[in-house]
Amino acid sequence: MSNGDPVIETRKVSKYFHDPVTAQVLKEVDLVVKRGEYASIVGKSGCGKSTLMYILSTMDTDYEGELYLDGERVTGLSHDRLSRIRNEKIGFVFQFHYLISEFSVLDNIILPGLKLGRFERPELEERAMGHLRTMGIEHQARNMANQISGGEKQRVAIARALINDPLILMCDEPTGNLDSRNSAIVEEIFKRIAAEHHRSLLVVTHDDELAARTDRIITMDDGRIVAL
Ligand SMILES: Nc1ncnc2c1ncn2[C@@H]1O[C@H](COP(=O)(O)OP(=O)(O)O)[C@@H](O)[C@H]1O
Ligand SMILES: [Mg+2]
Repeated sequence: MSNGDPVIETRKVSKYFHDPVTAQVLKEVDLVVKRGEYASIVGKSGCGKSTLMYILSTMDTDYEGELYLDGERVTGLSHDRLSRIRNEKIGFVFQFHYLISEFSVLDNIILPGLKLGRFERPELEERAMGHLRTMGIEHQARNMANQISGGEKQRVAIARALINDPLILMCDEPTGNLDSRNSAIVEEIFKRIAAEHHRSLLVVTHDDELAARTDRIITMDDGRIVAL
């Protein structure tokens, strides 16, 4: 696979919620994110950004239209196939980090790696330590996840998302809970991931300044993409 190939593609993806009344939340969304691209998604609260991210991440399979990941049609695949593909090809970072608080930082990061089984534990630990060093928190590796600060947890979540070398890192409001200093650190890490590792990044954000520093801004309004 080379730069420019599509990593993620949607074809006319629509989504309805039926509670309390039926409402169409995504309206025939066509989107392509290419290899090495660093893109942001912006738009008013409630316009469908998180709903779209859940579909792109393959976690929500209840939609109309088609989803392609790394050239493969993933719409309609079994739960097991999807979870394997997701673990191998997609890294996620959500606003709330979902670390396991009674596990060490290191064990949290390597967990998806053990599950995939592409690398052995010593190699996973080495890779995890490399990410922690890049992020300036290697001294926290053996501490429990509930003993570190919010900004550090977010960086641990990023390291965890990177452990299986995903093609694309998807982040929903990754800096939403962070102060400006920690936001800047996270942003710097994203730039490095895109530039040095040629991975794709898709970041939902409220932060116009963060969006302005990505390569491409995707604007959503009322369930549609209105600007690419
Ligand atoms: N589980 C759900 N059931 C019903 N409506 C939902 C559900 N999740 C989200 N919505 C509605 O879908 C719309 C889009 O939500 P969301 O994707 O979270 O927006 P954003 O992330 O852009 O703020 C909103 O109107 C929201 O109220
Ligand atoms: Mg949201």
